[in-house]
Amino acid sequence: MSQQVFLRDAMRRLNYTRDALAQRIGVSRRALDSWLLPDESPEMRKMPDIAQRFVLEILKGVSVDTQGVHHGNNESGHHLLSVDGYTRDSVEDLLRVADIMQPIARRQKTTRVLEGAVLANLFFEASTRTRLSFSSAFARLGGSVCDTTGFTFSSMAKGESIHDTSRVIAGYADAIVVRHPDLGAVAEFARATHVPVINAGDGPGEHPSQALLDLYTIQREFSRLDKLIDGAHIVFAGDLKYGRTVHSLSKLLALYRNLRITLVSPESLMLPPHLVEYLANHGHHVEQSHDLQSALKGADVVYATRIQKERFGQEETLEGYSADFQINQALVNATCGPHTLIMHPLPRDSRPGANDLSVDLNNDSRLAIFKQTDNGIAVRMAIFATLMGVQDQVQHSLREVGWRVPVYLGPEDEVPYRDQ
Ligand code: CP
Repeated sequence: MSQQVFLRDAMRRLNYTRDALAQRIGVSRRALDSWLLPDESPEMRKMPDIAQRFVLEILKGVSVDTQGVHHGNNESGHHLLSVDGYTRDSVEDLLRVADIMQPIARRQKTTRVLEGAVLANLFFEASTRTRLSFSSAFARLGGSVCDTTGFTFSSMAKGESIHDTSRVIAGYADAIVVRHPDLGAVAEFARATHVPVINAGDGPGEHPSQALLDLYTIQREFSRLDKLIDGAHIVFAGDLKYGRTVHSLSKLLALYRNLRITLVSPESLMLPPHLVEYLANHGHHVEQSHDLQSALKGADVVYATRIQKERFGQEETLEGYSADFQINQALVNATCGPHTLIMHPLPRDSRPGANDLSVDLNNDSRLAIFKQTDNGIAVRMAIFATLMGVQDQVQHSLREVGWRVPVYLGPEDEVPYRDQ
């Protein structure tokens, strides 16, 4: 295990900020920060053996719930259909595996642990991120990918059932990723096969892999900012009725303690009552609001969503969704602190009048949207490795990459890609 993975795992298990860990082991925050850099970083320093032994000693006193850790921790054992069934320990164990994947996701190392395995990527709804990042994650583990997009190019257009489609594909592939417009359709795929099925979004239901990468991003950024998720103020804004990423992420966040959760949407797009109740029953303070300006004050995370017009019923309109719902630079400057994370699962609707997350925030260091998309690779690699039982082989299989990797991926990036 790399030094970075070891220390990040220790902080998760102890629920310590960087300051708290540095203080407990009697080193400066600056020293700890240098130990936490990736192996590839020129600024990285080796932690002394005595410090590592001390951290191990502290960890001995922590109990770890490993129930279901090697099976994806979901209600159906070897599929990932929902975030239901994750415990705080089991979800954090998956995030630890994502940390192990980072050198591969950031193209410093390569592995072949899934050599010979085939992924079937079935997308019956539009997608850029989820489809391509699941493909990329599987390929970076050494596997290969076959796919189909839309109903038109699938034999479902000829009336084939989900059961038959799923059972046929199980004969071709070792994992199946499905996005489908109907709630529950991905679970129907899973019922027809013992090959792992991953829900890449089922209508207005769930999007578990997106929620896992969002949680991972929050945790990584909070670690940098010396914050814990416990006690944080999270604002969800936009279409909370149909936004399936919010449905999954709110359930994962419910595993933490004492959150203040503010839900901002027009009256017609409020979070479904069963989820509001779920959050309240888990001991969180939930507020519902239609006023973005006051809701954003003091937020640690602002999670904006696109209006999912494609899911509106015939009678539903955008009534009440005015320009007042747009999160833009002026609003963020007026209401948010210097360390607020501005997140969005993307895509954002950048067309005039859409009132989605504004592009005028693109140069604001609080904007975490591309950290989310970059982290999606490591998290989806962790999902495959865990579901397919190779997570313990990755560390010993790493080799150097043989091609040139850009130091920065985007024009606005402030931190070298390898150090993020
Ligand atoms: N976040 C997300 O699901 O994006 P895509 O629709 O592009 O996959």
